[in-house]
Amino acid sequence: MSVNTIDINKLMNHFDSHDQVWLFGYGSLIYKADFPYLERRPASITGWTRRFWQGSHDHRGTPEAPGRVATLVAQHDSICTGMAYLITPLTFEQLDIREKNGYLRVVTTMHFDGGGEAEGVVYIASEDNEAWLGPAPERDIARQIAHSHGPSGPNRDYLLHLADALRELGHDDEHVFALEHHLQALKFK
Ligand code: SIN
Repeated sequence: MSVNTIDINKLMNHFDSHDQVWLFGYGSLIYKADFPYLERRPASITGWTRRFWQGSHDHRGTPEAPGRVATLVAQHDSICTGMAYLITPLTFEQLDIREKNGYLRVVTTMHFDGGGEAEGVVYIASEDNEAWLGPAPERDIARQIAHSHGPSGPNRDYLLHLADALRELGHDDEHVFALEHHLQALKFK
């Protein structure tokens, strides 16, 4: 199965007149910043919660055996913590390729830790994309993650690196930490 959002994202022209744009990362973009950026600051966005409900056919799984990666799900009053990066619009070419498996650029307001806010972009994979897997018991999600591998490596590394990065930032995320707990418990079975 292939879902490719590159062409749709190219049509996003909201920041065309800007020299610099803030990008909000909440998944692998927190711990794997393999793109050029001018500045990075811990930040959060409201109204969204992080969930491992997106299938990964290209990074942490395959089309035959997709892994599970993070996306955002709308939830009133929720706060999603992550990392904001100041980038130039050219960098979207690289990011659109990285996020091509169902993620669309969405305009959001991010609040920087320590004060201040900015309008910017967040990549979100919503339930109408072909790679969407949706909710499942956290134990089952952890089991799927434990068994999935893709071109970017084991799915378990995605989850464990994200959990470590959130801890380093001093952020709590019940869903991510519950998945980490289940994943680690699987090792001893
Ligand atoms: C993000 O990190 O902001 C998007 C999802 C991902 O690439 O893991």
